[in-house]
Amino acid sequence: MTLKVNPVLELTFSSFTPAVNSAQQQAYLSHLEHGGILFLPNLGFEFAADETRFLSPDWSDGKSKNIYLSGNERHIKGAKGNVEELTAMSALIERYSQNATALIAHLLPSYMLHAKPANTSLRCVEAAGRKSSWRKDDRRLHADAFPSKPTHGERILRVFTNVNPHNKPRVWNVGEPFTDMAAKFLPKVPKYRAAQAKWLKLLGITKTLRGEYDHIMLHLHDLTKADTDYQANAPQLRFEFPANSTWVVYSDLVLHAVLSGQHMMEQTFHLPQEKLSFPAVCPKYIIEHIAKRHINC
Ligand code: SIN
Ligand code: FE
Repeated sequence: MTLKVNPVLELTFSSFTPAVNSAQQQAYLSHLEHGGILFLPNLGFEFAADETRFLSPDWSDGKSKNIYLSGNERHIKGAKGNVEELTAMSALIERYSQNATALIAHLLPSYMLHAKPANTSLRCVEAAGRKSSWRKDDRRLHADAFPSKPTHGERILRVFTNVNPHNKPRVWNVGEPFTDMAAKFLPKVPKYRAAQAKWLKLLGITKTLRGEYDHIMLHLHDLTKADTDYQANAPQLRFEFPANSTWVVYSDLVLHAVLSGQHMMEQTFHLPQEKLSFPAVCPKYIIEHIAKRHINC
């Protein structure tokens, strides 16, 4: 079954610092917060000649699926190499981070006061054949929620750029609206238990205490991924992001699955939901509206 509304809004800009007027900024913000994707088909990210060597899965340390600079520390993780190589890799990923941040500053300047940059990654492993547990399998439709990283209601905004050097698209399925998914799966989410959340924190399974919001988001993530009937039959739209294109999305709101693609860069931002322009379409409000009660973060 396909989607009723095309969630993709195409923008022709070819620079990470596009000139955008305030009416356009408002339109982009509204589109994103309502579960749309901003797609920039003409916006690629340039590698210097001596950086193209990093477009290979061989730099992975074999433990992590991505090479990344983590939130505040900016240490490179998931990679192997000598000091020169790791320094050059870090510089490349950091430059992508600066470009992605400039893009948000130009498309959505009102976010800049509140957006907290989180991880920046380089993903050179082919997505189609990647081996992982069903829970980590991003080839299944899901809205992002991470077991060890509660967001406490903060939103997950991501900028992606396909940096494939062989013109290969990154292929996604985009799922039905979050409201429709939540209406189906919320009744199956087990009751939140504060004592269990304390144990998870004590054991180091979560970095901070998982509140009820993160409990529900994680269960929705797991329930959708585990449901083979949902995966096969839920409304979804296949979309190809060509090489040298960029897209921006609230990945905690938009159901997505990666079908194939290799070589992508990505920057995550966290935004406090109370700073968004349309709080009524945040996952928290949608969940509260369906559950008919307040949810703590
Ligand atoms: C994700 O599911 O968050 C990542 C999608 C991708 O790898 O293209
Ligand atoms: Fe995801």
